[in-house]
Amino acid sequence: MVVGSGGREHALAWKIKKDNPTAELFAIPGNGGISEIAKCIPLFAEKPEQIVDIAIQNNIGFTVVGPEVYLTAGITDEFTKKNLKIFGPSKKGAMLESSKLFAKEFMKRNKIPTADFEVVDNYNDGVGVLEKRAFPCVVKYDGLAAGKGVLVADNFNEAVDFLQKIYSDKIFGDTNNKVIIEDCLQGQEMSYLIFTDTMCFIPMAPAKDYKRIFDNNKGPNTGGMGCYSPPFFFSDKLESRIQQEIVFPTLSGLAKENIDYRGALYFGLMLTRQGPYLLEYNVRFGDPETQVILPRLESNLLDIMEATAEQSLKKCSAEWSNKKSLAVILASSGYPGEYKTGKEITNIEKTKTSDVVIFHSGTKKEDGKILTAGGRVLAVAATGDNFEEIRQKVYRAVDIINFEGKYYRKDIGLESFI
Ligand SMILES: Nc1ncnc2c1ncn2[C@@H]1O[C@H](COP(=O)(O)OP(=O)(O)O)[C@@H](O)[C@H]1O
Ligand SMILES: [Mg+2]
Repeated sequence: MVVGSGGREHALAWKIKKDNPTAELFAIPGNGGISEIAKCIPLFAEKPEQIVDIAIQNNIGFTVVGPEVYLTAGITDEFTKKNLKIFGPSKKGAMLESSKLFAKEFMKRNKIPTADFEVVDNYNDGVGVLEKRAFPCVVKYDGLAAGKGVLVADNFNEAVDFLQKIYSDKIFGDTNNKVIIEDCLQGQEMSYLIFTDTMCFIPMAPAKDYKRIFDNNKGPNTGGMGCYSPPFFFSDKLESRIQQEIVFPTLSGLAKENIDYRGALYFGLMLTRQGPYLLEYNVRFGDPETQVILPRLESNLLDIMEATAEQSLKKCSAEWSNKKSLAVILASSGYPGEYKTGKEITNIEKTKTSDVVIFHSGTKKEDGKILTAGGRVLAVAATGDNFEEIRQKVYRAVDIINFEGKYYRKDIGLESFI
């Protein structure tokens, strides 16, 4: 059973089905694309107890969780209590993502390179800290904020406005009032993910995602507008530094602090002149990273995830294809601001060649039609020998698919060969 409803979950379901064609697959709640390969159960709450009941009723042998909200709500702890197998960290482990302050303090304790930071819990102290700061600097809300909790502030006024939104307008609610103010790092950003059962780890193929809405990385941040793997600047030497300076200290920190972590762990990295720095942890697969990583995985994903959950990852290995991989997100125009949904999507089936795959994000199936149902609608993904060729395949399919308000970036992966 796959829990979640995005492109990441479609990619997980697609890979599981590809490796295990006879497996009976379920999804909660799933989406228009997932419903073609799995039985979707329309439960739109993040209550772990209800999902436990569904797992028992349907005799589910294994569950993989996509979004962080379920992990933060303690789904893994509830499943484990009932002896149900699940892939994803405990509630404590999920704090690496659900509290940025917990994560930063964890990094500091375990000597993991990260931007220097200060913490405040009210507006006046925040302004006081900002008055002494150089700009740009980064202001981060402590709790989960669906990608809207971080501002890279170019100047004092912008930063103060954001504090006002947090403390006066209470845009993130008023149960958590902690804010981190940290140095702004310069460099290339990339995503490095691992499977880990706390004792050991298997690296995934590295990826680079595009967070801004417009070409040339302009405009506001989004959940991700495209992705490719591997990043053009990636090397064995860089990977070994990432592992030595960031991955190993993280795993020994988890062990030392008795944090049970069995799942995917995502390192959001900034490659600075001083070496790799950790911006954040995510406690799950990335979206859209998963849509480019899994097409490169030659091993059986379910075997690796089961070994992770059973803490026998040591006995496991992963084979990665030498092929490169790229995905472009089709979004509803207006996203990440306001946008319309319910638009019919046509011509998806016309793109089905052997190496283009369409992963659904915000879609739903109604009366046999596929409709838009979110900001990010589809990911068009392909693999190949070089990014020039892959881009041609992907953008040809992007042109074929139609829906009112279709928006996408035209520069995904371009930097890798220009
Ligand atoms: N210290 C920093 N220096 C420069 N850029 C940063 C820094 N921290 C965050 N960012 C930028 O802000 C984005 C969002 O921050 P992140 O910590 O990943 O939070 P979230 O993904 O929860 O919104 C990052 O992808 C990065 O582009
Ligand atoms: Mg992030």
